[in-house]
Amino acid sequence: MCKRSKSLSIQGDRNGSFEPILVPKHQRRIAGLDENILALYARGNSTRAISAQLEEPYLMKTFAMKTFTLNDGTQIPAFGLGTWKSPADEVRQAVKTALELGYCHVDAAWIYQNEQAVGEGISAAIGSGAIARESLFVTSKLWNTFHRPQDVETGCRETLSALGLDYLDLYLMHWPVAFKPQASQHKNPEDFYSLDELPLSQTFEAMLKLREKGLAKSIGVSNFTPSKLQRIITETGVVPSVNQVELHPYNPQNELLAYCQAQGIRLTAYSPLGSGDRPDSMKQKDEPPLLDNETVNAIAQTENLSAAQLLIAWAIDRGTVVIPKSTHASRLAENLAAATHTLSAEARAALDAIDIQYRYVSPSMWFFPGITYQGDSFWC
Ligand SMILES: NC(=O)c1ccc[n+]([C@@H]2O[C@H](COP(=O)([O-])OP(=O)(O)OC[C@H]3O[C@@H](n4cnc5c(N)ncnc54)[C@H](OP(=O)(O)O)[C@@H]3O)[C@@H](O)[C@H]2O)c1
Repeated sequence: MCKRSKSLSIQGDRNGSFEPILVPKHQRRIAGLDENILALYARGNSTRAISAQLEEPYLMKTFAMKTFTLNDGTQIPAFGLGTWKSPADEVRQAVKTALELGYCHVDAAWIYQNEQAVGEGISAAIGSGAIARESLFVTSKLWNTFHRPQDVETGCRETLSALGLDYLDLYLMHWPVAFKPQASQHKNPEDFYSLDELPLSQTFEAMLKLREKGLAKSIGVSNFTPSKLQRIITETGVVPSVNQVELHPYNPQNELLAYCQAQGIRLTAYSPLGSGDRPDSMKQKDEPPLLDNETVNAIAQTENLSAAQLLIAWAIDRGTVVIPKSTHASRLAENLAAATHTLSAEARAALDAIDIQYRYVSPSMWFFPGITYQGDSFWC
């Protein structure tokens, strides 16, 4: 399915196989892809031919991008690139580099205000022959101002136009919160629709029509709890394909994961590295930085991985899609390499046993009792 250019042989495929690539044997961590080898691949050499040219010992590493089948029959790559907070002037290059390295999944959103630059990165990678559109999986999200059924297609079309695409592979309802579109700020209770005035199932139904129109291949939600999922399933008779939520060892979402597995909904893990670059206004004093966690770092060392790589491998091992964000080439490569790591049972158990509970992303600024949500009732 993935038709990458002949000139770039690190070929990813939503169904599985990548060409083997070569990693220097002396490299303790799978820190990334060797620049010299990348250059040799880019000149069209096969792995065997490159191997014959190399003086120092190299390990043959096969990058097989794992995919999951969604309940509508489509394939989603288990690993993708997050783009929240990525400045436009950086994300253009980051997306292009990522797709050239072997990524085939990009996570975007209308509200990130950088979809045009993300689209330019995608277009540059397609233009250079690094990846074909049909091999790429692009997700975006309906913002809260477009929840009225008559606004859903407008929101989707704005995203498509910014990204420069004809269709999305996956379109998610970003939050179970509906803003009144005419309000310029959304800080007061009167700026929101209550769930009775504008039920989530009405928005979801309008999103399903996008699938019929060919504007999105799969439809899902984000930041939904089992009770909200159950409600839209009961009211529409349709099970969302994906639920994208904050998920990492401090917020493992065990109950939600079990519910979604039983329903056939695939979970995507956002903020898998602890979202350290969130704006200060979203941070609490003394919050625990996930990447500094002692257990994570100790296990990472025994697994020969960086802390970030371990967290990525853990998420995929649990059957969730994972979308770490970076705008740095070396980290893009480092994170990609983790997507194919097989976690040991001990490492998995040690991460599962971390008993710190912390959520980095909270929509508490939208909690208005009687209108939207009363505090933690959002997560019930
Ligand atoms: N649906 C939703 O409501 C929702 C909410 C939040 C996030 N998301 C999606 O999920 C994506 C990921 O979440 P996130 O952006 O919140 O946070 P994240 O991926 O957990 O963390 C991003 C931070 O980690 C750093 N980083 C990346 N790779 C690293 C590595 N190998 N070593 C050390 N640091 C590394 C990044 O720095 P550099 O960029 O400087 O490398 C950045 O500061 C988002 O970008 C977005 O697409 C969705």
